[in-house]
Amino acid sequence: MAARPEPFSTGAGRSILDAMADATARKGTAVPLAAFMAGAVVALLVGVFGKVHDPTLAGTTTLGYETVIDMKVVVTTGIAVLAVLQLVGGLWMYGRLGIRTPPWLGTAHRITGTLALLLSAFVAYHCLWSLGLESGKLADGEPVSTRTVVHGVLGCLVVGAAVVKVVAVRSRRAPGWFLPLAGGLLFTLLVLAILTSAVWYLGAEGWPSAAR
Ligand code: HEM
Repeated sequence: MAARPEPFSTGAGRSILDAMADATARKGTAVPLAAFMAGAVVALLVGVFGKVHDPTLAGTTTLGYETVIDMKVVVTTGIAVLAVLQLVGGLWMYGRLGIRTPPWLGTAHRITGTLALLLSAFVAYHCLWSLGLESGKLADGEPVSTRTVVHGVLGCLVVGAAVVKVVAVRSRRAPGWFLPLAGGLLFTLLVLAILTSAVWYLGAEGWPSAAR
């Protein structure tokens, strides 16, 4: 018996449905690729700004602490707590904790995530504006430590990763793996930026005291 003609054939032994599935797969990776490219450009621009801008304390706040650095350490400790909550919430929503997901979890995750991003933007602004992306030697000839260089680069990457994460949350056309990957990347970079700044500072200097 002759083979029944494929109603939606492309003529190359593949149906139009196959071609459409391929197109959907390509569309799926287009959003993550564009997001990673945008994130990389933003991280680069932040780094370039950190190099060309003249550091100044004008336009910064200590929020009542003795120095801007003390204030950043305190706010960053809050960011660290929120970041851990984000990780636990994310794993919970993806069923990795083996506990039933409560109906309020999605909203709580969004609120704490937004707060963590806003506070990170606040701290990153203070780093960039008052210190910049330090490397080599400072104006007074003092060499910049490897930790400081690593922290500055991580800080720029955190800003880029935040862009990727926001795209991942907003996009309806991205594949399912994109959101957990973007979230995991942002979490990892944020934790490394915190370890190379606030955690190091707390170990060396202890908890900052408020200005008298
Ligand atoms: C936007 C990119 C960023 C740049 C260029 C940057 C740069 C810097 C620099 C140069 C210092 C001084 C380090 C030192 O004196 O040894 C610093 C300190 C600090 N940064 Fe950042 N940073 C950035 C983002 C962030 C982010 C996202 C966080 C927190 C989530 C953060 C938290 C801190 C804290 C707590 C300190 C004070 C402790 C310390 O002196 O290391 N920074 N940053």
